[in-house]
Amino acid sequence: MSILIKGGRIIDPSQDIDKVTNVLIEDGTIKSFPRSATKYEKDRKTQVINARGKIVSPGFVDIHVHLREPGFEHKETIKTGCDSAAAGGFTTIVCMPNTNPVNDNASVTEYILLKARTEGKVNVFPIGAITKGEKGESLAQIGEMYEAGCVGVSDDGMPVMNSKVMRHAMEYVKAFDIPVISHAEDKNLSGSGVMNEGEMSTRLGLEGIPCASEDVMVSRDINVAELTGAHLHICHVSSEASVRLIRAAKKRGVRVTAEVTPHHFTLTDKAVDSYDTNAKMNPPLRGEADMKACIEGLKDGTLDVIATDHAPHSEDEKKVEFNLAPFGIVGLETALPLSLKLVEDKVLTLNQVISKLTDAPSAILKLNRGTLKKGAPADVVIFDPKKKVKIDRETFHSKSKNTPFHGWELKGEINYTIVNGKVVYSA
Ligand code: DOR
Repeated sequence: MSILIKGGRIIDPSQDIDKVTNVLIEDGTIKSFPRSATKYEKDRKTQVINARGKIVSPGFVDIHVHLREPGFEHKETIKTGCDSAAAGGFTTIVCMPNTNPVNDNASVTEYILLKARTEGKVNVFPIGAITKGEKGESLAQIGEMYEAGCVGVSDDGMPVMNSKVMRHAMEYVKAFDIPVISHAEDKNLSGSGVMNEGEMSTRLGLEGIPCASEDVMVSRDINVAELTGAHLHICHVSSEASVRLIRAAKKRGVRVTAEVTPHHFTLTDKAVDSYDTNAKMNPPLRGEADMKACIEGLKDGTLDVIATDHAPHSEDEKKVEFNLAPFGIVGLETALPLSLKLVEDKVLTLNQVISKLTDAPSAILKLNRGTLKKGAPADVVIFDPKKKVKIDRETFHSKSKNTPFHGWELKGEINYTIVNGKVVYSA
């Protein structure tokens, strides 16, 4: 079965394309951009999707997702995480290793890939752990995980505190040319903090996590990347100083890339005001100057990509005192409308937002996705950037509903998500 996407505005930053035309999908790949749709409309073997007035772009790529399986299936499974991705316009997701067991060896990697192939609607690429059990002590079986399909390594959530171990990891990954992905946080400095350290934490009587706990590790990791020549990717940047450090490192040629989440460029720690545990994540929501610095970083290219850090937790786990709730919010189904706000606010152009959700993240992990090049797998999203949407957590496809954006009125509706030439979501 072929698909013809008719009359949409095709935006593909990977080829610098921005024009109204048709897209023909055949045998799961992008076949051509035919000038006329007439021939295909008469062909009963071709499904015609009318995309007039809509944007047609490469499917989104999220390089920071927690799928929770194996081990935490009450929060999310590979199936429900993929459903959530498809509903959010993501055709490719990259999953973090903090499962149970941790993805620190090839058998867990193979399990995830098998499950994703048999139950998942979208492309899944796993990240392996840096250290065994994410304990920060000795290196995990990185070579074997790479052979099995891991596209990077990270001890996300459990940062490697020992700088020598980090050096060994960076030296080792160079053989495979995959990045070390750093959740940059000095756990000692964070202590038992639960939100950003500042005026708000004092007022609310909650223990704070200072920006410095991120900044010192961003600085250390940049230094180690400089020493080893490895590719360092920094997760969910949240502070002004981190943005400054990454900007300076890039300027002197360090191989560093970085991501920012929609929540860190949209919210500040004021969102914690009502002790809403859905505003609790790590790194925490920061102050106004930090949020503005993240936006500036996105604008000048210091922050290469938008990634969600989709971190599902069950209602029971989140419905507790702020101190006791786990860190994390879901993000796959709110990413597009929150990112489009950047266009409305004239921070980025629509093409730039699409690039930060498609070819840029794909390039960081060499995924060969995020493009509508002829012959590429037909991973496509069709969306209406002007359509008003009201975020309703009850409609989420994710198993978890932990979002601080419930009830928000935004713009940007996903109409179709197509993976390898198959419609996996339609509104
Ligand atoms: O908020 C977060 N949640 N930050 C992390 O680093 C981990 C994640 C999770 O696994 O829930």
